[in-house]
Amino acid sequence: MKAIADSGRERKMKYMVFMWIGLLMIVATAFPAYSQDDVIVINSKALGNHTRPLVRFPHLKHEDQIDCSECHHEYDKSGENIGGDGEDCSDCHTKNAGSNPIPLMEAFHLECKRCHAKEISSSQNKNMPQMCGQCHVRRKRDKR
Ligand code: HEC
Ligand code: HEC
Ligand code: HEC
Ligand code: HEC
Repeated sequence: MKAIADSGRERKMKYMVFMWIGLLMIVATAFPAYSQDDVIVINSKALGNHTRPLVRFPHLKHEDQIDCSECHHEYDKSGENIGGDGEDCSDCHTKNAGSNPIPLMEAFHLECKRCHAKEISSSQNKNMPQMCGQCHVRRKRDKR
């Protein structure tokens, strides 16, 4: 008797698992391209009122071809980059240099521009913004 009861429970479990997988697939196809991280509008509160149009950063396009740790860093005691989990840059870089010597805006500018400059000089692909207005793209709908 016990064996039969168990296998009944097992079947019910399997059914539930399939139900969940099915549901997840429906949810996944309902929102195809735009997962949360596809394009991030970078808007650090720490910078206060922005004077430039906000930067729309195509995160997915970057993470598809670049290691996370090239951009997300966290240094251990010996100065080794052990990679970050995608914390906001402002968690460690403050508006003005504090305990961390690299202020927030410089941290972004250094990281984005350095890699683009290197890529442009070394690869065929030139599709990387370097000028102010190419990253801070003014849009009709922007209030400013
Ligand atoms: C490769 C992309 C890129 C380029 C090129 C670039 N920026 Fe930025 N800039 C950023 C990012 C990303 C931030 C961080 C925005 C945030 O955290 O909200 C930023 C922040 C800023 C800020 C502080 C936020 C604000 O709007 O007040 C200013 C000012 C700024 N940039 C001016 C400039 C100027 C001037 C140039 C050209 C000399 C320039 N940027 C070029 C990506 C870029
Ligand atoms: C080319 C640089 C770059 C690469 C590569 C990259 N990221 Fe990011 N990521 C960023 C920047 C910049 C932000 C915005 C940080 C901020 O707003 O302070 C971000 C934000 C995030 C966030 C927060 C998402 C959100 O909506 O706020 C997570 C999580 C994250 N990244 C994880 C990853 C993981 C995992 C990888 C590797 C698979 C990766 N990132 C690769 C630059 C990068
Ligand atoms: C967990 C804390 C932490 C986070 C989160 C963090 N940083 Fe840093 N970052 C540091 C530390 C520590 C240094 C080294 C500062 C020094 O030179 O002493 C540094 C240095 C830098 C430098 C200068 C060194 C170099 O690589 O040229 C840049 C640029 C930089 N960070 C950009 C970023 C950007 C962009 C983000 C968000 C995607 C970010 N950081 C997130 C802690 C962090
Ligand atoms: C480690 C290298 C690296 C870093 C760091 C990096 N990028 Fe890029 N970026 C690339 C490469 C490579 C491409 C070309 C992608 C392609 O065409 O497939 C690119 C392309 C872009 C494009 C154009 C995408 C398009 O479809 O037209 C934008 C916008 C951009 N980057 C913004 C940023 C911003 C903002 C930052 C800083 C938060 C940043 N990138 C940091 C390597 C980098």
